[in-house]
Amino acid sequence: MSEPAPTRRLYIKTHGCQMNVYDSERMADVLRPLGYAMTERPEDADLVVLNTCHIREKATEKVYSELGYIKQMKLARQAAGQSMTIAVAGCVAQAEGKEIMHRQPAVDLVIGPQAYHQLPELIARTHRAKGERLSADFAPQAKFDRLGSDRNPSGVTAFLTIQEGCDKFCTFCVVPYTRGAEFSRPMDAVLAEARSLAGQGVREVTLLGQNVNAYGGEGGLAGLVRKLAQIEGLDRIRYTTSHPADMDEALIEAHGEVEALMPYLHLPVQAGSDKVLRAMNRAHTAESYLRLVEKIRAARPDMAMAGDFIVGFPGEREQDFEATLQLVAEVGYAGAFSFKYSRRPGTPAANLPDQVAEEVKEERLARLNALLDEQQSAFNASQAGRTLPVLFERAGRHPGQLSGRSPYLQAVHVSAPDHLIGQIVPVRIESAAKMSLAGALALEVA
Ligand code: SAH
Ligand code: SF4
Ligand code: F3S
Repeated sequence: MSEPAPTRRLYIKTHGCQMNVYDSERMADVLRPLGYAMTERPEDADLVVLNTCHIREKATEKVYSELGYIKQMKLARQAAGQSMTIAVAGCVAQAEGKEIMHRQPAVDLVIGPQAYHQLPELIARTHRAKGERLSADFAPQAKFDRLGSDRNPSGVTAFLTIQEGCDKFCTFCVVPYTRGAEFSRPMDAVLAEARSLAGQGVREVTLLGQNVNAYGGEGGLAGLVRKLAQIEGLDRIRYTTSHPADMDEALIEAHGEVEALMPYLHLPVQAGSDKVLRAMNRAHTAESYLRLVEKIRAARPDMAMAGDFIVGFPGEREQDFEATLQLVAEVGYAGAFSFKYSRRPGTPAANLPDQVAEEVKEERLARLNALLDEQQSAFNASQAGRTLPVLFERAGRHPGQLSGRSPYLQAVHVSAPDHLIGQIVPVRIESAAKMSLAGALALEVA
């Protein structure tokens, strides 16, 4: 398909999870045929899209302060005889569309995550009449069908959304309300997209879903992974985020058998106290989670585990929190994301009595992070002296340096020539820091 020369500038700011990163890329894809090219400078943009996150209060409040800045840019452009269209997308758009329009009248368009395929037509409409607002009606099938499988990847790794929405209703979480019910894309569509990516030089895909391992296509996630592993050029497969309740035997087995499936698993547990887990509606206990990790490591002994944690859920006592520390000590995480519980309007936990004081949350988070940081540093340090296959992704910070990833998702910095970008090369790890590794090419590479 031939495309017009770019005549308009598009600026997209992305917050939140990788699914928003994927969606932002797809929005750029549907706008390209209309002549929109990306810019890094919002003040130059004809169209600004804020792709927002509603998961915690801070994330949501950020949207309103950013809109304040962008409004100033819009006014400056208007004073210079130019225009700017402002669109708010993502989970805040879905959850608080009306409030956004009300609080920031400079916003032209509000669009929920299931409606991005309608972006071109809605933009055209706002150019005629201001104030269009589209609250998506959760039609993910239409979204993915109309976004199509043709991609324009910008590097050697790519995200690929295969599942969207969530039916789990953890009592703290807004996702089931902002993204709707669980929906899995048909396997053929996913494979077509993966082939398109591989054909353009992508070596690693990360399959995405709020509950990616609940993937409902034929054969489940394990079946999909096995098919993807056969695609020429696609050498690394990852997936995120998983729910412990959906980690089935077939998937665990695939970890032991499929070489392309990388030994790094993000498997959030949230807490270590069964009382808290029950109140969170998590559908697993500390014990069942630990047994699951054991099984996964039996299939893939070098599996690096990552997790998400919430401290200060309503009713969490000191001894409950200590159970979280205990669980962390037993698992040994290679990486983690930890959060203070944030009360989200409309979720069941927001109305629970016994909310935990802010200072207590702060203190627990600091203790948890100290342990998690220590584990991450120890995990990285344990790689020193090993030789690991590294996929080089981009130029590094220093001249003559490339930056890539180990199988365990660690960033690795190496002195290496540019032509190795996109290649998987053995690297001898020489030193480790908390966030990254440094090494040297293990072979003479021509
Ligand atoms: N689907 C994934 C993660 C979704 S959101 C899962 O089931 O684990 C990403 C993380 O944000 C969650 O794992 C949780 O740790 C955190 N989170 C979600 N809601 C939160 C809230 N109200 N307060 C603090 N952290 C929250
Ligand atoms: Fe939120 Fe729970 Fe669904 Fe994850 S599984 S998206 S935490 S409701
Ligand atoms: Fe945030 Fe929505 Fe993702 S709330 S974490 S952007 S699904």
